[in-house]
Amino acid sequence: MASHLQNPLALPPVNDLTCIVTGATSGIGREMARQLAEAGAHVVMAVRNPKAAHELINRWSESWHGLPLNIEVMELDLLSLDSVVTFANAWNARLGPLNVLINNAGIFSIGGKRKYSSLLGYTSSKLAQVMFSSVLHKRLPIEAGVNVVCVSPGIVHTNVARDLPRIVQAAYHLIPYFIFSAQEGSRSALFSATDPQIPEYCELLKADEWPVCAFISQDCRPTNPSEEAHNIETSFEVWEKTLEMIGLPSDAVERFIEGNEVTCRYGTRSD
Ligand SMILES: NC(=O)c1ccc[n+]([C@@H]2O[C@H](COP(=O)([O-])OP(=O)(O)OC[C@H]3O[C@@H](n4cnc5c(N)ncnc54)[C@H](OP(=O)(O)O)[C@@H]3O)[C@@H](O)[C@H]2O)c1
Repeated sequence: MASHLQNPLALPPVNDLTCIVTGATSGIGREMARQLAEAGAHVVMAVRNPKAAHELINRWSESWHGLPLNIEVMELDLLSLDSVVTFANAWNARLGPLNVLINNAGIFSIGGKRKYSSLLGYTSSKLAQVMFSSVLHKRLPIEAGVNVVCVSPGIVHTNVARDLPRIVQAAYHLIPYFIFSAQEGSRSALFSATDPQIPEYCELLKADEWPVCAFISQDCRPTNPSEEAHNIETSFEVWEKTLEMIGLPSDAVERFIEGNEVTCRYGTRSD
């Protein structure tokens, strides 16, 4: 799989990039944060366990012999939309640039007493993300200079299976030889975040009648997501429903770009 790719992937100059990586305390996110910081980017680890992130930074700094790593930690628990708003407000208050946002955090278990299996819940959530990303990408005008890319990391040996039944976890940990390491799995997202051809490719897609957003495979090539991801009607339903759930109008992007203030229903608690 992807044997033509270097590991680690060689990155172009990233000294002028500020990158937020969510879920940077484990697996693929941890690799991306470390590699971007070692390549000179300003990295923000957006994590629910800041102590673990600070320990990682100390460890990386001790074993790193280049210029001091420009890396910091901000708290973000993606299970709480109040936490998301608190994070976004703290970020916006800085008035600094954000060049790359890597929405990496995720788990392979939905828990609870749902009727559908974890696998179905997990794959549906990923499909919904591709659909949402496609509508977002289409709604962002080229002049906004913002592109949305989805990536597949491949099948990667990480902690992602931690909430699955023990027997499945045991099988998962027996197969690292056949699957990617976290470093290999980080390549498609690092490529998408840094390769200068990506913005051009995204802009080409934007001009299509109905594009899905860019989708970069585990071997760092543009590829087509599943047939279901091309369903326009469902994609718009996912968009509408998502914005409705967080209390935003469906034209929130357009209003925001016009300079209007757009707020969702979360993050308004005074405590
Ligand atoms: N591994 C694969 O084969 C594979 C394949 C396709 C896609 N992916 C996707 O790749 C992404 C990274 O997964 P991974 O394999 O690197 O798994 P991982 O080792 O379990 O890492 C997941 C990261 O997400 C963080 N996270 C989980 N829930 C969070 C929350 N509510 N708020 C903030 N952070 C949260 C975790 O934080 P804690 O350390 O605090 O738990 C951890 O840092 C996920 O979106 C996963 O679905 C993985």
